[in-house]
Amino acid sequence: MDKNNLTRRQLLATASVGTIAAVSRSVPAYGNIAKKAGKLARPSTGGLAILGGEPVRKNKSWPQWPHWDQNVIDSVVKTTKSRVWCRIQSSSGTVATFEKEFAQMTGAKFCVATGSGTQALHTCVEALGIDAGDEVITSPYTDPGTIASILAARALPVMADLDTESYQLDPEDVERKITENTKAIMPVHMMGQPCNMERIMEIAKKHNLKVIEDACQAHLAEYQGKKVGTIGDLGCFSFQSSKTIACGEGGAIIGNDEDLMDKCYTVHNHGTSRRGHTEVAGPKYRMNEFEAAVLLGQLPGVQERFARRNENARYLTSRLKDVPGIVPQKLYEGTASGSFYLYATTYLKEHFNGAERSQFLKALNAEGISLSPYIALGLHREPWIEHILSSKVYKKMFSEKRLQRYREETACPNCDKVCDEMAMIWASGPLLGTKEDMDDIADAIQKVYENRDKLRSI
Ligand SMILES: Cc1ncc(COP(=O)(O)O)c(C=O)c1O
Repeated sequence: MDKNNLTRRQLLATASVGTIAAVSRSVPAYGNIAKKAGKLARPSTGGLAILGGEPVRKNKSWPQWPHWDQNVIDSVVKTTKSRVWCRIQSSSGTVATFEKEFAQMTGAKFCVATGSGTQALHTCVEALGIDAGDEVITSPYTDPGTIASILAARALPVMADLDTESYQLDPEDVERKITENTKAIMPVHMMGQPCNMERIMEIAKKHNLKVIEDACQAHLAEYQGKKVGTIGDLGCFSFQSSKTIACGEGGAIIGNDEDLMDKCYTVHNHGTSRRGHTEVAGPKYRMNEFEAAVLLGQLPGVQERFARRNENARYLTSRLKDVPGIVPQKLYEGTASGSFYLYATTYLKEHFNGAERSQFLKALNAEGISLSPYIALGLHREPWIEHILSSKVYKKMFSEKRLQRYREETACPNCDKVCDEMAMIWASGPLLGTKEDMDDIADAIQKVYENRDKLRSI
């Protein structure tokens, strides 16, 4: 890596534990490329597989996801036989037990489990008193569940642009988007890696805003000595099948403020408090005992799986740092570990003889390695915006001038760039593989890079 091409922040990030390369995006001179290009762990024969050569990887499978073993089966069978299928039947059932264990794992004082990550986020929005006419600033590069949680409260999701190298919210654009109606920031820890929470918390404090961390992809990721989800006022997780802790559909809220977490319980329990009084308007978002049974069955071994994903990611990054034009996700200073829901890279076509990303991915796929683009457009370019802005509630709650400005402010050019250049692996299963599996990924990328002059014709 050419240190002269790194900013000070990138250099610090490169030096931190668990660091992933923060490689310069500038195009090096060609002599430089030859020097930087890495070596294949195992030599390949016959050129690109898509043109008839031998694929780098064949007849091998990846570790399957979601994970299950006898613990999961036993836990579900036990719950079935107990006839305690709903959390309100027992204060020591699987949901209550999982809440305690998950709080402990994340270092939070309290946890409320929900039926999904979207439900967890919406519960937080309601519990913080965010209402029709309020605004919440979040990322356009996320699952629709993030904005659905804000829209469900009839508040306005205002999108700030991204840092193109980390794919996370750019805190400076967040600050620019604050209005007198802004009540909260909802940073999204994309790919399972922490956002720049130091800066986001500074901005929140300065403008007296709440912070709801969307950690739906970022279980157990650690930043500046804290697990994500415990840095803001509240943190939310998803346990949907593909996530690194999974039960089909499920979610959780964590937090340290007892009163606020009690409010979350009340909201998610159709407005009825732990004391049995129906106090506020609230949906019914309770996790059921079977979902928690799957989660409890999956917890043994969870730390080892996270450690393995981090170790494999470190190794993969160390191999990819020598491939010009493939730039692994930038991590912020203070990132000690990630969840690695996705292992994400930026594809820079100028290093691949101008070949389109689709041509690169096609060639890579033929080598037996599936990388994909991920989010196609970004939420700022989806049709929901017009639907919302023409709805009766929004027209009543926001002035015409505000809605017009909202329309104009939805441009997020950095997010567009990230959508166009992303090349990622769904990592929950694959990153549990062996070092040889990681070598297959890196070798295939390296091989396609070495044959980049052939890509534009495929
Ligand atoms: C960043 C992010 N936020 C929110 C959600 C919503 O979670 P769920 O699908 O459990 O409702 C997801 C799920 O993929 C997500 O990735």
